[in-house]
Amino acid sequence: MTADELRSKYIAFFVSKGHTQIQGKSLIPDNDPTVLFTTAGMHPLVPYLLGQDHPAGKRLVDYQKCIRTGDIDAVGDPSHLTFFEMLGNWSLGDYFKEGAITMSFEFLTSPQWLGLPVEKLGVTVFTGDDTVERDEESARVWKSLGIPENRIAYLPREDNWWGPAGTTGPCGPDSEMFYYVGDKPCGPDCKPGCSCGKWLEIWNDVFMQYNKTAEGAYEPLARKCVDTGMGIERTVTVLNGQKSVYDTEIFAPIRAAVEKAAGYSYGSDEEKDRSVRIICDHVRSSVFILGDPRGVSPSNLGAGYVLRRLIRRAVRHGRKLGIDGKVLSPIAQVIIEKFRGPYPELEENRAFVMEELDNEESKFMETLQKGEHEFEKLLPNLLKDPRKIMSGRLAFKLYDTYGFPIELTEELAREQGMTVNRPEFDESFKKHQELSRAGSGQAFKGGLVDQGEIATRYHTATHLLHQALRTVLGDHVAQKGSNITADRMRFDFSHGAPLTAEELKRVEEIVNGQIKNDLPVSMEIMSLDEAKDSGAIALFGEKYESQVKVYTMGEGENFFSKEVCGGPHVEHTGLLGKFIIQKEQSSSAGVRRIRAVLE
Ligand code: SER
Repeated sequence: MTADELRSKYIAFFVSKGHTQIQGKSLIPDNDPTVLFTTAGMHPLVPYLLGQDHPAGKRLVDYQKCIRTGDIDAVGDPSHLTFFEMLGNWSLGDYFKEGAITMSFEFLTSPQWLGLPVEKLGVTVFTGDDTVERDEESARVWKSLGIPENRIAYLPREDNWWGPAGTTGPCGPDSEMFYYVGDKPCGPDCKPGCSCGKWLEIWNDVFMQYNKTAEGAYEPLARKCVDTGMGIERTVTVLNGQKSVYDTEIFAPIRAAVEKAAGYSYGSDEEKDRSVRIICDHVRSSVFILGDPRGVSPSNLGAGYVLRRLIRRAVRHGRKLGIDGKVLSPIAQVIIEKFRGPYPELEENRAFVMEELDNEESKFMETLQKGEHEFEKLLPNLLKDPRKIMSGRLAFKLYDTYGFPIELTEELAREQGMTVNRPEFDESFKKHQELSRAGSGQAFKGGLVDQGEIATRYHTATHLLHQALRTVLGDHVAQKGSNITADRMRFDFSHGAPLTAEELKRVEEIVNGQIKNDLPVSMEIMSLDEAKDSGAIALFGEKYESQVKVYTMGEGENFFSKEVCGGPHVEHTGLLGKFIIQKEQSSSAGVRRIRAVLE
C-alpha cells in the first residue's frame, strides 16, 4: 500500500458514503493567532465545527498537510516527523458515534478497501470523568461490529480526549484505532494503548461535543460533530509491516538522495542514520513551508523562525555526513518530484523554494564560521583552565548568541583536548526553553514555537525605537505605552504632530543601523537616582522599586540606549532581524502610535 493509494482509497470511500471532497488548506493558518502552522486536518475546519455552515455540506473529506514542531528535537528517531499528511472525514451535525465508527470499521476491514483482519484491530474509548461520562456508546458500537471486549481499552483524558489546536476551540472524547503487530500479549493487561510497542495507532475518531472557552470552561456545542484523523505516513508504515516511517516508499527516494550525496549507505551506523532521517524530515518540511501558497521565508520570527531552525539543523547534519557544497536543494528537487501530484503548489513555487534554501544555507555557513571564530577568541582563556573544562554557560552563550550548535562547540573543544560541561549547558538550555515556553501560552498536543523569544526581540526593538524617536524628534518623546504580540509591536509616545515620511524613514534607518551594529545588551541593577544620573530613561509617572534594572544597548560612554526596564532582552541587537514600520497614527491627544514588525 503506497501513500498515493491510501489517499485515493480514503477519499473514494468517503465520497461513496455521501461526503464531499474539499481542498486541503494552507500550512499557514488564516485566522488563528494561537498557532504558527496548521497542526491537524480539523484545524482549518474549526469555524464549522463550532457551528458555521460549510458551503460543501455536512459530510466532508480531505487530505491536509500539517506541521507539528513541538518535538522537533525528537526528530531523528525512527518515528518522529515534523511534517505529515492527515486524512480526515467530518460530520457537521450529521452522523455521530455510531455512523463514524461503523464507517471507520468498514474502511479498515472491508476487502474492497483496506481489508485488515478484524483480529488485528483494537480500540480505545474514553473512560469518563467528572465532566463527561464513560463512552459506553462507542464501546457498544465496536462490540456490535465484532471487536471483542478484551480489545477495547477504557482510557482517561490524557489518552482519549482531543483538545483544541490552540488554547480554545472544539473538543471531545475520542476513540482510537490500533493495529496489533505482536504475536502474543505482553502480559495480562496488554490492551490497545499498551506501551509494549505492539499496538500501533492508525486512526482517531473524535466526537466533538464541547467548545473550550478562554476561561477553561467546556460549553456544549449547539451541534455535535465528528472529526477523524488518519496520519498517512504512520498508517502506510504499519500497513506495510515496516518499523519506521523512514523505511516506507514515501521516504525512499528522499533517503536515496541523501545517501547518494553523502556516499553513505543507510543502516550501517546508527549515528549517521539519525542524521539521514533528520535531513529527510527537515528538508521535506522546509519544502512544504516554502512551497505553500502562503509560503514564508526564513526569518527570526514566527513561522519563518521555525523554517530557519529546520533548515539549519538539516545543513548541520549534512555537514556531519560530510556532504560538500549545497546540501539542501538537490534533495528538495527529489521531494518536489515525489509530492507534486497531490500538491501542485510545490511545482508552481519550485524556483522560490530552491532560491530560499540556497540563500539560507549560505547564511548559515557564515554563522558557523562566526561561531568558530568566537570560539578561537575564547580559546586562550579556556586553555588556562587546568581541568580542561569549558563552562556550560559559555557554550550556551555561543549557542544563544551566534546560534552555534553545542555539538560543534563540543567538537572544537575536543580538538583542543577539552570537554564542555554538558550538564551545565543543558541546565541553561532548559531554563531558556522554560522561559520561552512561559511566554508562548498554553502548549498543546502538537506544539508551539518559542514565542517568548520573539516577544523578547520585540521588547529589545522597543528600546531602539524609543531612542531613535528621541534622536529624530527630540527629547520630549517619552513612551506612553507599548504592546507586543508574536507578530508585531505597537509603541505609543508623546509627540504633537504626525511624523513625516522622511522622519519615519530616518527612525527606521537608525533602528536598523543599530541592529546591524550588533550592539551588546547589558543589564545592571542600581538605585533609581543612580539610573537617572547615568543617563537612563525611566518612564514618566511609573512607580519603581528602590533598586531597578537598567538595560544598556551599546558599549561604554557611547551607548545608544539606556532604559530602566524589567526585561527580558536579547543579548545583542544583531538578533532582531529587519525592523519595519508599518503604520503611524494618532493614539490620543498629543500621543502618536507606531506599529512595526521584525522580519
Ligand atoms: N483532530 C484529531 C487528530 O488530530 C482527529 O482528526 O488526531
